[in-house]
Amino acid sequence: MEIKTRWELIKKYIEFFRSKGHHEIPSASLIPENDPTVLFTTAGMHPLVPFLQGERHPHGKRLVDVQKCIRTGDIEDVGDEVHHTFFEMLGNWSLGDYWKKEAIEWSYEFLTSEEWLGIPKEKLAVSCFVGEESMGVKKDIESSEHWLKMGIPEKRIAFLSRSQNWWGLAGESGPCGPDTEMFYWVGKGDAPEKFEPEDKRWVEIWNDVFMQYSKKKDGGYELLEHKNVDTGMGVERTIAVLLGLDDNYKTPGFTPIIAEIEKLSGKKYDENKKAFRIIADHLRASVFILGDERGVKPGNLGQGYVLRRLIRRAIRYGNILGIEQDFTVQIARAILPVYPDYQELHRNHKTICDELQAEEERFRKTLEKGLKIFEKIAHDDIITGREAFLLFQSYGFPIEMTVELANEKGAQIDLEEYNSEFKRHQDLSRTSSAGQFKSGLADDSEQTKKLHTATHMLLEALKRVLNSDIRQRGSNITPTRSRFDFSYERKLSDEERKEVEEMVNGKIRAGLEVEREELPLQEAFSSGAMGEFGAKYPDIVSVYTVLDPNEPRGYFSKEICTGPHVHNTKELGKFKILKEESVSAGVRRIKSVVE
Ligand code: ALA
Repeated sequence: MEIKTRWELIKKYIEFFRSKGHHEIPSASLIPENDPTVLFTTAGMHPLVPFLQGERHPHGKRLVDVQKCIRTGDIEDVGDEVHHTFFEMLGNWSLGDYWKKEAIEWSYEFLTSEEWLGIPKEKLAVSCFVGEESMGVKKDIESSEHWLKMGIPEKRIAFLSRSQNWWGLAGESGPCGPDTEMFYWVGKGDAPEKFEPEDKRWVEIWNDVFMQYSKKKDGGYELLEHKNVDTGMGVERTIAVLLGLDDNYKTPGFTPIIAEIEKLSGKKYDENKKAFRIIADHLRASVFILGDERGVKPGNLGQGYVLRRLIRRAIRYGNILGIEQDFTVQIARAILPVYPDYQELHRNHKTICDELQAEEERFRKTLEKGLKIFEKIAHDDIITGREAFLLFQSYGFPIEMTVELANEKGAQIDLEEYNSEFKRHQDLSRTSSAGQFKSGLADDSEQTKKLHTATHMLLEALKRVLNSDIRQRGSNITPTRSRFDFSYERKLSDEERKEVEEMVNGKIRAGLEVEREELPLQEAFSSGAMGEFGAKYPDIVSVYTVLDPNEPRGYFSKEICTGPHVHNTKELGKFKILKEESVSAGVRRIKSVVE
């Protein structure tokens, strides 16, 4: 059976699993219902979580679907052959019904049978979970034995660790389990006898997850009442592989979109791949988000912010290609006919076009000017948080775009300062943190958290050792050090410096609890909380208090601050002042670390 388009693949997949007793269910919305932990549906599993946990599904225990998904974790990676923000995922589901044997046999049959995909089995390899003692989960021999029975040779089965062969949603808890993944050899000539998963010519096309566990809030795993199967096959990637293409953007779903960009820009895809891919991918995702049955509009929060980032990044790359006129609507018109099966897109056709047009007009007003300003501020390779925030607030540059621009130039941005600028302008009673840049490095945020708390303690120690009138005049914290400016007339003596250090370390050793509360601004001040001189605060602020029952006031330090902070000072380690110097008349600067 020769399959050339997404629609042919989808039809075949559904037909195959219907023949195995599965009921077809429609794709759920891209915007998860009742799940505040994620912005978008990232896998077919989202809408089915209650049924994976035991609730009865009205259509029974065997389901098949094609689910619209958006994964935004790696928007900046889009531009290569394989990354997409929007994609469609085929899946077959067993809700407490069949298990590994059937799932693997059917995967194998669908992939290799001439009646279905007809992939030569010599081009297949699989991976299984190697097991992990700390999780109490054993090596998945059961799956590998089924593969051996199907005729997959032992050398083509790799056992991999949790980072590769374990699946669950990104949240803290929920159904999860080991998986077995299927790979297709896309290299020239015969596939090597042994499967080496690092070799990129082995491309993953399907994933069977054996969802047997539930991750608990405390990090442990417990067995679910019933065992489920959740599988996922990326439509685009599979089509690319079947057509022998090494570039998803050359599949039939993308060619009309790429052709439209060529027409608009007068440039060739082959010479400008990155920009073309970004425009095609981002606008396709935007069309699906705007046209979703629970559609969203561009904005500065949550899904709206992601949508804005996508549209604006696409426009910037249009700019790079030299497209001078508005173009997003024209691209959307090339995208819509590729997906005649999504009724909602066609119902919402007008909204999609109107919103794209409005967002493009808004952004084009400030883009050129913003880029000029960027060039100016990036000239000495350092962009302050305030400058990045100005680009966000006045020129509509999502911070991720400024980061990307800075990376292209080899410039550095002070993201810590950007985050505090951003937070300062936010209403703190809102919980959303969209628009804020997350470095994604847990270690970095742990380290800055510690330095935040240490800096509060430093201010209090300075007041006690030197002068109770001392005020904070600025602060900047990176994962490696804290820089703290305060009002004071002269250099500290060695003894004073030592005394300050020792006071902070004494309070660290005392293991004091750090408490956070939200208070109206006036109440925060009248409760004795300190604020930064000259800073503007929102109506409701958070106050961090380093509690100390041995102090007359019941605390050592109390400050208005956006945080975050450690829970207990004993997490800090040792506090050390590296340097103390003058910044300007009446302002001193201390650089410090915790080790
Ligand atoms: N939910 C699984 C995945 O996304 C199938 O890979």
